[in-house]
Amino acid sequence: MTSRQQPKTLWLGRWGFILAATGSAVGLGNIWKFPYMTGEYGGGAFVLVYLACILAVGVPIMMVEIAFGRRGRGSPIDAIRRVAQESGRGRGWSLLGWMAMLCGFLILSFYVVVAGWAFSYLWKTVSGGLAGSSVDDMAAIFAANNANPWVLGFWSTLVTVATMFIVGTGVQKGIERSVSWMMPGMVVMLAIMIGYAVFSGGFGQGVAFLFSFDLGSLSSEGLLAALGHAFFTLSLASGAILTYGAYLPDHSSIARTTFTVAIADTLVALMAGLAIFPVIFANGMDPAAGPGLLFMSLPLAFQAMPMGMLFAAIFFLMLSMAALTSAISMIEATVAWLNESRGISRVTASWSAGLVLWTLSTLAMLSFNVGAEWTLAGMHVFDWLDYLTSRFMMPLGGLGMALMAGFVIRNAIFRSELGLSPGSYSAWLFMVRYVSPLGIVLIFIDSLGLVSLDLGRQWPWLLALLALFTLGGEWLTPRFGRQRIVQGRS
Ligand code: PHE
Repeated sequence: MTSRQQPKTLWLGRWGFILAATGSAVGLGNIWKFPYMTGEYGGGAFVLVYLACILAVGVPIMMVEIAFGRRGRGSPIDAIRRVAQESGRGRGWSLLGWMAMLCGFLILSFYVVVAGWAFSYLWKTVSGGLAGSSVDDMAAIFAANNANPWVLGFWSTLVTVATMFIVGTGVQKGIERSVSWMMPGMVVMLAIMIGYAVFSGGFGQGVAFLFSFDLGSLSSEGLLAALGHAFFTLSLASGAILTYGAYLPDHSSIARTTFTVAIADTLVALMAGLAIFPVIFANGMDPAAGPGLLFMSLPLAFQAMPMGMLFAAIFFLMLSMAALTSAISMIEATVAWLNESRGISRVTASWSAGLVLWTLSTLAMLSFNVGAEWTLAGMHVFDWLDYLTSRFMMPLGGLGMALMAGFVIRNAIFRSELGLSPGSYSAWLFMVRYVSPLGIVLIFIDSLGLVSLDLGRQWPWLLALLALFTLGGEWLTPRFGRQRIVQGRS
């Protein structure tokens, strides 16, 4: 503990970090992206792999990130560099921090567009633009909303400005307050929606779609998508959680915090699925409708409910807030870095980062209208930003951090940061050394077409492979001067 850096700022109160990290994790990823991806990749098998990735990859890596942040007390670049140096390693490791920071920035540049959708639907609800619409009208309304670059640009610009304003005003004041009432509010809203869905006539079908699976049916594309989404939804490998970890007080338990955030996040995603799919099936809509799924389905449900427009307004308000608390966490790393390492004030840092961001997000926004023709390999700027970050940068960045924590950093550092019992510590080390990396690597090799994974049939082989790696790794480790898992028990 002694060589932990001194923090400049800390979260206020016992719940500060948990609230902020949950605010970061729970967002459009849970309510917009998870349902539409589940629809696109065929349901239950995707959900199962996603849940497995949360547990086997997401949770251990989230602990790594929070520990890096708290130990190094700084932006991802500085924190990782400091912890590496404390372990007698070179500055080169901070490259992982650079990649994470860039990743958060790129995500935000398309995230503000989707957050803009949420804001515009809030406005539509309040101004009566959604009332009395049929299934077909909903699709037309969504399309029309995207077709006008001025309107769409207005909303994404508004989100960008709001985000930069909050981040510019500082850590505690801006972020903490909003999450404490918004999070429970979201859960209540989703519970009401599920209550409605139960009577919608499509509930059984929705539940079956989400939870019955045939693992062989999941494509390699779907596997990689599930892995990438586990990173996305927990805000990992993008600088967000690591930077928030830098403000975590010394005495907080990293493991307990991680589990709280992961459980809340998963709960909201599953609740969103349970609220949306019954409506889809009850109205004979296509679950694979893509990114517009949420915006075309829930408004139908609201319409059929008593006081539906009031509920719709509350729902889209919550969604907009959830998007904002995630957005601010994506840019916090960049602003913290400009502030700490470059001596630029938070306000200036935030507005200059915002300007670059706005330019990129405008390109992403134009994908839906003027730039509909600007494609590369069949994908727009918007799609590329999502694809590069979720499918590549986050899984690879996470792999790097897991291997770094498992093999490169002195065991004593993580042992004192995590403060786990010897048994739990060994389990965590086993996860970051072997289980998470093997999972990520296998899914990658599979997506390149080099092997073809069928988890349902091949699991005994995969377990044997894991055992082989573990034995090999544990045999080799002492030869590189780091402790083995069992010695880590001392
Ligand atoms: N986890 C957020 C969501 O699910 C998105 C996010 C990604 C936030 C990366 C921060 C960093 O909406």
